[in-house]
Amino acid sequence: MTAMTSSARPLLNRRLAEFGTTIFAEMSALAVRTGAINLGQGFPDTDGPEEVREAAVRALRDGRGNQYPPGPGIPELRTAVAAHQQRRYGLSVDPDTEVLVTAGATEAIAAAMLALVEPGDEVIALEPYYDSYAACVAMAGGTRVPVTLRPHEGRFRLDLDELRDAVTDRTRLLLINTPHNPTGTVLTREELAAIAELAVERDLLVVTDEVYEHLVFDDAEHIPLATFPGMRDRTVTISSAGKTFSFTGWKVGWITASPALITAVRSAKQFLTYVSAGPFQYAIAEALALPESYFEDLRADMLTKRDVLAAGLEDAGLTVHRPSGTYFITADIRPLGETDGIAFCRALPERTGVVAVPTAVFYDHRELGAPFVRFAFCKKKPVLEEAARRLKAAGTR
Ligand SMILES: Cc1ncc(COP(=O)(O)O)c(C=O)c1O
Repeated sequence: MTAMTSSARPLLNRRLAEFGTTIFAEMSALAVRTGAINLGQGFPDTDGPEEVREAAVRALRDGRGNQYPPGPGIPELRTAVAAHQQRRYGLSVDPDTEVLVTAGATEAIAAAMLALVEPGDEVIALEPYYDSYAACVAMAGGTRVPVTLRPHEGRFRLDLDELRDAVTDRTRLLLINTPHNPTGTVLTREELAAIAELAVERDLLVVTDEVYEHLVFDDAEHIPLATFPGMRDRTVTISSAGKTFSFTGWKVGWITASPALITAVRSAKQFLTYVSAGPFQYAIAEALALPESYFEDLRADMLTKRDVLAAGLEDAGLTVHRPSGTYFITADIRPLGETDGIAFCRALPERTGVVAVPTAVFYDHRELGAPFVRFAFCKKKPVLEEAARRLKAAGTR
C-alpha cells in the first residue's frame, strides 16, 4: 500500500493493514498465467443439482425474491434450515426467531464478530484458520488468540490443555471450525464435549463454522457443538449452501442460534448487506429438502476424489494427512527436501503445472505451518488424476 493522502496517512484502516491481497488471488493469477490446474481455491468445477438450478430459474421467472427479501431471510428457507437441523441432529430451532439468512458463511462470520466482539476482547480460534476469521476479528477490534492444531498420528489434533490455557478474563468467544479448513480435521465427540465444558465453565460464547457439515468421511461424524449440554444458548452455528450444494457463487448462508444471539447478530448484519440472493434463497430452501441420497452421493463422490488426490500426492512423495472432512488435503513437503511452503507454492505452477496454497498463510505462528501445503479435491476425477500425473512427472522421487 503506497497511496497516501496529503497527511501521509495510509488509506487502509490500520486494523486491516496486515490484510493485503489474499493468497488465493495471487495463486489463482498464477494458475491463469501458467495454465496450471488450480487446486488452490476451494470451489467445485461441477455445478450443483440441476433441479436446484431450475428452482432458482423458476423463482426468478415467478418474481420471487427479485425485490428485497425479508431481513431475516425468506420464511421458506428459514423453515427448511430448521427442518434440516431437526432431521439431522435432533436440534429444535424456531424458524421465526432462531434462524438468520446471510450472504454466505462469510457474512455470517463478519456479522457475528462485529456484533459480539468489542475492542479489547480476545477471540480464540483454531490455527491454521480460514482467512476471513483474522480479518473479521480485526475489523471488530478484537484480538485473535490462536490455538494450534498439530499433526499427530496422521491427523491434525487439538490440544485441549492448550485451549484451556488460552482462555483469559478477556476471552469473549471461541471461534470453532469443524470439519476444519484447511487441515480436514473433524473434531471428535470427546473434543467437542471438552470445548463445551470449557465454554460453560468460563461462560464463553461460541461461534462455530460448520460449512463442511456434510463432507465427513470414514468413521468421522459431524456433531454440532450446539447439541452439547449448556451450549444451546451460547452457540452461534454457521453453515452455508456453497459447499453442500456446490453453488459457491450464490452466497447463501445461515446462522442458527438463540433469539437473543440472532437479534444481536442481525443488528450488525442489517448494515452489511441487509439482504441478499433473493431468488437463490428459494432454490436453497428446496435443496435442503433433497432426499438423503443426495447428501450420501455428495459424500461418496468427494471421498473417491479425496482418495485419488491423496494417492497422487503420496505417489509424488509428499506426506499426506488424510482428511476426515472438508474437500482439502494438507500435505507435508518435507519428504521432498523442501521446508518453505510459500516458496514451494510460488514455484509449483511453473515446475509442475499445478497450483496449491501454502498453509503458512493461515497461521500466526508461520513457522509451524511452513512445511504444509493445501490442495483442494473438489474437482473432476480426471482433473485430479492429471494433477497427480503432473506432480509425479515433475520428478521429485
Ligand atoms: C471454513 C469456511 N468458512 C466459511 C467459508 C465461506 O463460505 P461462503 O462461501 O458460504 O461465504 C469457507 C469457504 O471456503 C470456509 O472454508
